[in-house]
Amino acid sequence: MTDPLVIFTPSGKRGHVAAGTTVLDAARQLGVDLDSVCGGRGICSKCQVQPGIGSFPKHGIAVADDALSDVNAVEQRYDEKRGLKPGRRLGCQACIQSDVLLDVPPESQLHKQVVRKAATQKDIRLDPAIRLVYVEVAQPDMHDPSGDLERLKSALQDQWQIEDLRIDLTLLKTLQTTLRKGNWTVTAALYQTEGPPRLVALWPGLYEGPVAGIAIDLGSTTIAGHLCDLRSGSVLASSGLMNPQIRFGEDLMSRVSYAMMTENGADEMTRAVREGLGDLVRALAAEVGIPPEVILDVTLVCNPVMHHLLLGIDPYELGQAPFALATADALTLTGGDLDLPTAPTAGVYILPCIAGHVGADAAAVALSEAPDQAQELTLIVDVGTNAEILLGHKGRVLACSSPTGPAFEGAQISGGQRAAPGAIERVEIDTASKKPRFQVIGSELWSTDPAFDHPVTGICGSGIIEVIAEMRRVGLLDASGLIGSRERTGSDQILPDGRTHAFLLHDGEPQIIITNSDIRAIQMAKAALYAGARLLMNKFETDTVDRIVLAGAFGAHISPEHALILGMIPDTDPSKITSAGNAAGTGARIALLDKSSRPKIERLVRQIEKIETAIEPRFQEHFVAASAIPNSADSFALTRA
Ligand code: FES
Repeated sequence: MTDPLVIFTPSGKRGHVAAGTTVLDAARQLGVDLDSVCGGRGICSKCQVQPGIGSFPKHGIAVADDALSDVNAVEQRYDEKRGLKPGRRLGCQACIQSDVLLDVPPESQLHKQVVRKAATQKDIRLDPAIRLVYVEVAQPDMHDPSGDLERLKSALQDQWQIEDLRIDLTLLKTLQTTLRKGNWTVTAALYQTEGPPRLVALWPGLYEGPVAGIAIDLGSTTIAGHLCDLRSGSVLASSGLMNPQIRFGEDLMSRVSYAMMTENGADEMTRAVREGLGDLVRALAAEVGIPPEVILDVTLVCNPVMHHLLLGIDPYELGQAPFALATADALTLTGGDLDLPTAPTAGVYILPCIAGHVGADAAAVALSEAPDQAQELTLIVDVGTNAEILLGHKGRVLACSSPTGPAFEGAQISGGQRAAPGAIERVEIDTASKKPRFQVIGSELWSTDPAFDHPVTGICGSGIIEVIAEMRRVGLLDASGLIGSRERTGSDQILPDGRTHAFLLHDGEPQIIITNSDIRAIQMAKAALYAGARLLMNKFETDTVDRIVLAGAFGAHISPEHALILGMIPDTDPSKITSAGNAAGTGARIALLDKSSRPKIERLVRQIEKIETAIEPRFQEHFVAASAIPNSADSFALTRA
């Protein structure tokens, strides 16, 4: 008689196992990801499966109603005490008697896929660095002088084949109480990536409470975090706050100068950013009602200056050529190392930096967007105070950073402000009347709508890009970036401004006008961005790219057409220009939820060819050529295609 055939769905894995094998063992034999925390003791219910009964032509199997063994005493006890959904069985108790089709529900799958929001993005594999196991530990014995830790280690080895366990003093101090409280049964949370496992939490008995992790994008202006359930991979809460280091300087270089000029300046900034991170962690935990101590894993991405300041390393070397990092490698620390209110033993993984100007945030973008795996030549631009640029496909990726300055964030612009409610973010200028209309953040209405009554506070980066591109499109601005006179343009919106002219965008309180020096600041920023992209294209020996991905919160709001008119990015079919949203934050979330992505990004960062714009003679050449609006006549044609 042949052994029973077992088919697992949704994986489709199938094979024959000996009659009498438990479903959990069959899953292990066939390489099916069926979860188990209690190791088959019938108490955790992580191994649940749903057997199908009847004929399943699609799978070529007919299943008898006694394909699985009857419910045994352990399973019955679990059902009575905790309740199983109708038709569900505990995989560790049910034995296979004949051919069977078994569905593994999402909550029982170990490596499920976590759906990413954008339709264009791939799902994230759920395989976190944290794993929970339930163990029964031998009690101390007068005849066996071994310590409690040694008996815990040998229980982990016997029951879970876990060897070489590391434990911090913090947990060692609580070990004896926890073991006795749990009557010699405990749930251990283990943190393991590539090296030996480390104990990060220990609970008495079977722990069924929350287990969470946080993915943090530590920017120089804002700190954003996603609190994730490490069992399901879902985002429980997302939040952000201003980086408290802002009081030491708006941009990175002013913070580096503060560190250089002020005694203990770097330490002050380290303290400030760690306090900010602590506030964020507490706020996220409070939002979902969990204690911050159940946060057992943290991933962090940031630019090189933030990286050093967070770690308490003086960023002095990053302020001058050759911009040497103390370390570019990925780091694995603990929550306690960074004064986080997570479990003090929680893992903290900081992604590797690419170069002195291209940080772990760019590495996270590379992890999220995977330009190395793209078939089309893909240009990825993360626009901030520095633009971080990646270009690649088919296993080759180049990276550089370009000094765009803060103009794209609304700084150095009269009436400029950060993207916040009240900031003008969309602008259109009527071709015939040359009259503008705009939208502000926080309102769906255009300013020309009679119902529009939203307060206007300033103009943000995407607004300034749109207004300048629109001014150029309707002929208020020439290719060199000069605003024409009222007589020449025929527009009542033009005002005299010293020896030049300005454009009146909003005649209210505050009045918002676009001056020639605003345009100059944007020209410099966009020329730097474009020159960086061209430099990478030169290295690839190409004049065109197939696809452009705009990353970052700002990237999400730039209209491709306006970016092309301005000449921020190389000429490309607008339908091939997409936004990846906060790709650095997504990269941090991938690193949190899928531990296999960590060595992957470390390998990719080693392979990425780093281009230093400061020493490339062609950068200056491209920069000068790129200050016209747009850079090429083709840009206009493209936006009208
Ligand atoms: Fe825990 Fe089955 S493995 S109940």
